[in-house]
Amino acid sequence: MVGHLRKKLDEKGVINMGRLLVFEGIDGSGKSTQIEMLSNFLKSQKQKVFVTREPGGTEFGEKCRELFLGEKLDGLTEACLAFASRNEHILQKIKPALRLGYWVLCDRFSDSTIAYQGYGRGVEINFLREMATNIEKQLSEIRIIYVHTSLERCLERIKKRSGVKNKFDNSSKIFYEKVIYGYSNIVKERGGTIIQVDGNDEIKKVFSKILQSVPELEQFKTNHNHLGDI
Ligand code: TMP
Repeated sequence: MVGHLRKKLDEKGVINMGRLLVFEGIDGSGKSTQIEMLSNFLKSQKQKVFVTREPGGTEFGEKCRELFLGEKLDGLTEACLAFASRNEHILQKIKPALRLGYWVLCDRFSDSTIAYQGYGRGVEINFLREMATNIEKQLSEIRIIYVHTSLERCLERIKKRSGVKNKFDNSSKIFYEKVIYGYSNIVKERGGTIIQVDGNDEIKKVFSKILQSVPELEQFKTNHNHLGDI
C-alpha cells in the first residue's frame, strides 16, 4: 500500500489503483442518494470519482437499458441483456477508470440480476451465479454496499417519484418480497465482500454508517465533520 491508494498489478501487469464500490438495494431503497453523497464527499477529499450505473454505463449499455426497461421481456432475456451491458461496462469503462485511480461508484451490478431476474423472475439462480462469477473474474476486487430498506418505505418512495416510471416501478409487493429475500441470501453467500446498511435510518446516519463500515473508506473515518457540507 502506498498512501491511501492500493497499488496492485492485475493479470496484465497493469497497476490497478482504484476501487470499485457497488451499491445494491431494491427500488426506492435510497442507494442513489447515498451514491451522490459519497461522490460529493470523495470529491471534497480531492479524490477522482466516476459514478456509473447498470444496466448502462456505456453507449451500448444504455441501448441495452432502453430495451431492458422499455420492453416486456422474458426474465432470461433480461438477464442476458444485463450481462451483455455489464461486460462492456467493465471492459470499456470500469477497468480503465480503476487503472487511472478512480473511485468507481456503480449503481447496481451482478447482485441485481441474481435478485431481480433470479429470485424475482424465476431464472435459474445457479446459471446467473456462474455468469456473475465469470464476469466478476475480470475485476481484482469488488465491494458491495447493500442498502436494506423496508418494503413499505420503498413502495412509498416509488409512489412519490416524479418523472418517467420504469416497468419495475409497477411491480407487485410479492415480486419485491422475492427480490428482498434474494438479497438476504446473497448477503449470506457473499460474506465479507458485502456490507449491509439499514436504509430505514435517517439519510445522514446511513451515510455515516457507510463511512464507518466500508473498509475501503477507513482512511476517511476521521474526516467525518465534512458530512455537514454534503
Ligand atoms: P434503476 O437504475 O433506477 O435502479 O433501475 C433499473 C431497474 O432495473 C431496477 O428496477 C432494477 C432493474 N434491474 C434488474 O432487474 N436487473 C439487473 O441486472 C439490473 C442491473 C437492474
